[in-house]
Amino acid sequence: MTRPRRNRRTAAIRGMVRETHITTDNLIYPLFLVDGKGVKDEIKSLPGNFRWSLDKLLPEVEECMELGLRNFVVFPAVPEELKDKTATYSYAADNFYLEAARVFKEKFPESTLISDVAMDPYSSDGHDGLVESGRILNDETLPILAKMSVAQAQAGFDIIAPSDMMDGRVGAIREALDAAGYIETAIMAYTAKYASAFYGPFRDALDSAPKAGDKKTYQMNPANRMEGLREAMLDEEEGADYLMVKPALNYLDVIALLKENTTLPIAAYHVSGECAMLIAACQNGWLDFEQAMPETLLSIRRAGADVILTYFAKEYARLAQGLEVSL
Ligand code: PBG
Repeated sequence: MTRPRRNRRTAAIRGMVRETHITTDNLIYPLFLVDGKGVKDEIKSLPGNFRWSLDKLLPEVEECMELGLRNFVVFPAVPEELKDKTATYSYAADNFYLEAARVFKEKFPESTLISDVAMDPYSSDGHDGLVESGRILNDETLPILAKMSVAQAQAGFDIIAPSDMMDGRVGAIREALDAAGYIETAIMAYTAKYASAFYGPFRDALDSAPKAGDKKTYQMNPANRMEGLREAMLDEEEGADYLMVKPALNYLDVIALLKENTTLPIAAYHVSGECAMLIAACQNGWLDFEQAMPETLLSIRRAGADVILTYFAKEYARLAQGLEVSL
């Protein structure tokens, strides 16, 4: 009789036939940065995650590096008074986010530092593109994104990650980076980014929710799968070095689809709302964090993600080393 259970009999056998592995190499840790000093401000809708000022962030990053976690994506929380319609602060000479990147890379040259390119953290309208009479202008947004990207490359970011979903932005950014001499700076494109209800805690962290309307004219419809493939083909053609699917858990089919149709590495963003759901259930004692969290990350990787952006990166690294985790 054929008995699949033979291959599950002992821990050693299960280890031998295990198909999916995750190491800290596969994880990217998202961090929120604020200007100032001495700030470590917990995000209420994402417990265990903070808005950090740089002086507090650096020791945190050092701890992560000691755990083997080397890849970070940093998002700026910009004070309202620095926001305007055209996101000029995003490339301002005294921008604290760009300044922080310089210090970060100087202190941790062996880290991977990933940026976020979109207008929303800097926009008084809270949209990823330029707003005119309630419409999001595509082509007029591209030069702003390109300028922001060059400023970030100049500050030392290793990978530029456009999350705005404007058409043609990967090509525009690649061209601008190359023209400025940043031929080694890579682009991680938010390729299939959906207009999702799961970004709430992130928008709380950055105070970046749209002031009017929603993001449905640029972020994708959650009902669509093939459109994700179309976006992937375009981003690849335009010169992306990584393709991202976002969110992750509700879109595992899209991760699998893209993985089968490209030779580029696939990133998946396990977004704030997805992490918040799990945290809430675990804090209520309804789920066991030490079991449910790794199973969750495993499912994203099994679907085809090479790298996962997750707010659980540090907890995963701690768990993998047999250290205590905080939930
Ligand atoms: C900004 C951006 C968002 C996220 C990453 N970059 C929010 C949005 O598009 O509204 C969401 C990440 C998360 O929820 O963890 N363009």
